[in-house]
Amino acid sequence: MRKIHVNASTEYDVLIGEGLIDKSGELTAKVVKPCRCLIVTDDTVDGLYGDRVQISFTYAGFETRRFAFPAGEASKNLSTLSDILNAMGAYGLSRSDLIVALGGGVVGDIAGFAAAIYTRGMRFVQIPTTLLAAVDSSVGGKTAVDMPFGKNMVGAFHQPRLVITDTDVLRDLPPLQLSNGAAEAVKCGVLNDPELFALLEGGDWLDRVDEVVARCVAYKRDVVAGDEFDTGNRALLNLGHTFGHAIEQLSGFTVLHGQAVGVGMVMAASAAGCPGAMIRRLSDCLRRNGLPVRCDYDAPALARAALSDKKRAGANITLVLPVRIGSCCLKKVPVTELPAWFERALAAQEALKL
Ligand code: GLY
Repeated sequence: MRKIHVNASTEYDVLIGEGLIDKSGELTAKVVKPCRCLIVTDDTVDGLYGDRVQISFTYAGFETRRFAFPAGEASKNLSTLSDILNAMGAYGLSRSDLIVALGGGVVGDIAGFAAAIYTRGMRFVQIPTTLLAAVDSSVGGKTAVDMPFGKNMVGAFHQPRLVITDTDVLRDLPPLQLSNGAAEAVKCGVLNDPELFALLEGGDWLDRVDEVVARCVAYKRDVVAGDEFDTGNRALLNLGHTFGHAIEQLSGFTVLHGQAVGVGMVMAASAAGCPGAMIRRLSDCLRRNGLPVRCDYDAPALARAALSDKKRAGANITLVLPVRIGSCCLKKVPVTELPAWFERALAAQEALKL
């Protein structure tokens, strides 16, 4: 088992290894004295792992209950949040009890937010069951729900007490879910880790998924330690997100987050004027991992969609631009220049015949 220590306002470990789902209660009991715990999950994950996690927590001495909501991004809203809070209240949870977020990014974000606001903040443990949640959203304490006016617009920074990633669960994921998470792993490679990028561009890395997750988490740990509340360099983690967010939005969210981030990274590299060979290398790596690399929307529509991004600060927007594989920079640009950045990205896509 690998252990990565996160040094944020709350310190915690991220545990990565085989068979951890069935030890999740025992592992949690080492950092949280057994108490009442509500396992929050979605109906898909509940059917796969709900019983095993509940048995593990019960066996470790926790008093347990489960709450499952319908799977999917459409559930990440105030209505589901209210249902979770009511389930917590009905169970009689107090601040010294525990929430266990068992699932992908939607579950982690909404259960984490419920833990952040119930009794003004209670402890929670993340058990990510998707690659995307394992390499990104389960670490760093961002919790939120979507609002009609934007994704993740209402939330809180609230760090978990422990993150438990079972690599057997990740190996069992369907290909679409794996590629969705692989995009965020490629992102870490482009941002900081050429060796990780090389591992991912080789394709068959599933038997080394523990290393992939550990490298991503170690990088994220360092970024979060330097900028927990996202006022500076944490923005680097948004590589591919401004361009990708626009694609997600224009697709009516039928394009998955990871797929959009993949295309968004290619667009960011193209708009930044990176050499064609590097853009091709990035595109090949994404394709090898089952991800699309082409954008078929036009620049004005993309710019309009991107401007509804909450990361926009007034008249400027911060773009994350690749410099080379393993290094990126932040660039604040006036929003009026955004259409030209999209034009450049689309022109490079045609020139390189992506
Ligand atoms: N997922 C980006 C961040 O945690 O800041």
